[in-house]
Amino acid sequence: MHCQKCEKKASIHLQQHRMALCKEHFLEWLLNQTENSIKKFHLFTKGERILVAVSGGKDSLSLWDILWQLGYCVDGIYIDLGIDARIGYSQKSRLLAEQFASERKLKLKVVDVKAAYSENIPEMTERTQRGQSKPCSVCGLVKRYIMNKSALEEGYAVLATAHNLDDEAAILLMNTLNWSMDLIRRQLPLLPERPGFVRKVKPFYRTYEREAAAYALLSGIRYIYEECPYSKGSTQLYHKRILNQIEDRQPSVKLDFYLGYLRANENRMFALKADDKENIHEYYCANCGQLTNRGDLCSFCNLTSGQKL
Ligand code: AMP
Ligand code: FES
Ligand code: ZN
Ligand code: ZN
Repeated sequence: MHCQKCEKKASIHLQQHRMALCKEHFLEWLLNQTENSIKKFHLFTKGERILVAVSGGKDSLSLWDILWQLGYCVDGIYIDLGIDARIGYSQKSRLLAEQFASERKLKLKVVDVKAAYSENIPEMTERTQRGQSKPCSVCGLVKRYIMNKSALEEGYAVLATAHNLDDEAAILLMNTLNWSMDLIRRQLPLLPERPGFVRKVKPFYRTYEREAAAYALLSGIRYIYEECPYSKGSTQLYHKRILNQIEDRQPSVKLDFYLGYLRANENRMFALKADDKENIHEYYCANCGQLTNRGDLCSFCNLTSGQKL
């Protein structure tokens, strides 16, 4: 098969877009697509300082590379979770993120959870969630808190994560199966800033996981192949597998599902009614000052001060 834009042999066939491209044209295409995604939802501008959350995986390193290539002012943050049993997951991914940054002379802030809060993620989970073997919810809470705090303290206009289309479609499927309206309302590519919260964006909201992986491979980015050892058997992976099966029979179903949600949102299908708005109460955490929807301490301060979640 030949590239659609030149006569070279195609390196990738994008069935969902009915397109085959050579290496150079694929890399250029993904750069352009990301730029268009940023512009479509006004995620950020060239003058703003962006902090990109990098895990050492294909999605976040490709995103960092693309934003850098596009000329955005972008630094990275890596959170060392201390998940090192069996495969040395955190050690390996930290090294890859550090190598990526130093090869390109980009600034990477590393937050070591154990050094900052005296326990790593498995230890926090063991102390607070006895009997529950998976640290994923504690881990998610800690990551969100540290990303937000670091971006605010260091004056970034925006925090970018590398959630891709496969992530978004799987999360949307789960939220729809449960009709979790609060979560559905917040599954947008941009969550605006407000006091205590930095603006959060997902520039890869229409990028297939396979496209991000191809970008990393074709541009020679070294990333961690292994998934987090705790993700095995997770509901999100299960939903991703199911969506992949549907996509095999119905190419572009993931894209149509998520873009359909965005259109429904533009038509205010999920908008809050005035009564609902009155029932939302927010407080400021007595310890760290961040916004929380419960009184006294926020969930993160509860976790790190030793109370059960
Ligand atoms: P996850 O919560 O693992 O699905 O990851 C979602 C996004 O969070 C990734 O695309 C990254 O942008 C970011 N992320 C995940 N793990 C880390 C980490 N250890 N340090 C910094 N950012 C991360
Ligand atoms: Fe947090 Fe797996 S990355 S538990
Ligand atoms: Zn070509
Ligand atoms: Zn707090």
